Amino acid sequence: MSWNFQEIQETIEKEASQVANLKDLETFRIKYLGRKGLVQEIFASLSSLPHMERPLVGKSVNTLRSNITTIVEDKKKAIRDRCAGIAAPLEELDVTIPGVTMGVGHQHVLTQTIDAICSIFEGLGFVVQEGPEIETEFNNFTALNIPVDHPSRDSFDTFYIDSPDPQRKGRYQLMRSHTSPAQIRVMQNNAPPLAVVVPGRVYRPDSVDASHSFMFHQIEGLLVDVDIRFSDLKGLLTVFCQRFFGKKIKMRFRPHFFPFTEPSAEVDISCYICGGNGWVAPSSSVLSSMNTSLTGEPQGCSVCRRKGWLEIMGCGMVHPRVFTAAGYPKGKYVGLAFGLGVERIAMLKYGINDIRIFFENDVRFLEQF
Ligand code: DAH
Repeated sequence: MSWNFQEIQETIEKEASQVANLKDLETFRIKYLGRKGLVQEIFASLSSLPHMERPLVGKSVNTLRSNITTIVEDKKKAIRDRCAGIAAPLEELDVTIPGVTMGVGHQHVLTQTIDAICSIFEGLGFVVQEGPEIETEFNNFTALNIPVDHPSRDSFDTFYIDSPDPQRKGRYQLMRSHTSPAQIRVMQNNAPPLAVVVPGRVYRPDSVDASHSFMFHQIEGLLVDVDIRFSDLKGLLTVFCQRFFGKKIKMRFRPHFFPFTEPSAEVDISCYICGGNGWVAPSSSVLSSMNTSLTGEPQGCSVCRRKGWLEIMGCGMVHPRVFTAAGYPKGKYVGLAFGLGVERIAMLKYGINDIRIFFENDVRFLEQF
């Protein structure tokens, strides 16, 4: 068999000029330089050639091989240069593959709840402020009229942080056990009239279960002026409850005791599951079906435990001793304060029955909000 090297070279050059990407280049290389490629075929044919012709053909096929190798190398470099700087190398780019959808994140349900609550109070003229999570014993307890022997001061109920400074002896630092110490900081730094809400994390050494966590969130409210009455507190919290839980919600004040307010009350809202009557009729709703027996008989409401009411926050009129501790002149100001637990409110609003789920970072839960 005789080979026309001139023609072969031309064909190769023509084909090479049409190669546009690395994939085609590889096909091209295999076709000519591969184990079953043309160059090998020519080498294999040498033995069948007359002796005289072999050296010439051998020389030509060696030249051909090195020409093709050069073409392949040059081509490869040209393609790489052309694609430099493109994230997905163009030679591998398949524009027909469906795109990858970017997951869009959103705020955690607790952040959403904090924002929703704060923005209701902002709409009523309150300013959002923050306070530190590491507090002094004075701000967390003493200034709030919490006596030295109060059980909440016990190390079973508060995380104390040892202070290395001997000067601080007896004035420990701690992880705030509620957001109320922010009241003291706000008053120390601002003159009335003032109205603030302070959201944030609080810490208590509770064992973790469905309704307790060593860390949770509260929102503190404080309004101070010269002419504030208990009726203002009631009106304010009624507006808040209706805006947050809906117009149909009823609210009641239950007398209570807090050292830092006098008088004090706990605020309940009518149960949103049973409508306040303590019983749930058979229905298709998932939440109320949990309260319904298999026979379809009405069942006692498990959310409010048949009380018809759900406790949502503590509140009261600021105790005069708190004003004194914050450095305000005696008898000049009056104020109202309130404090609510964010997890509890979110659990009531969304029918969540285990506080731990907020902190487990399970996207299947978080995606629902
Ligand atoms: N600090 C209280 C607690 O953690 C909640 C509270 C009750 C805050 C009454 C207040 C208030 O401002 O007036 O249980």
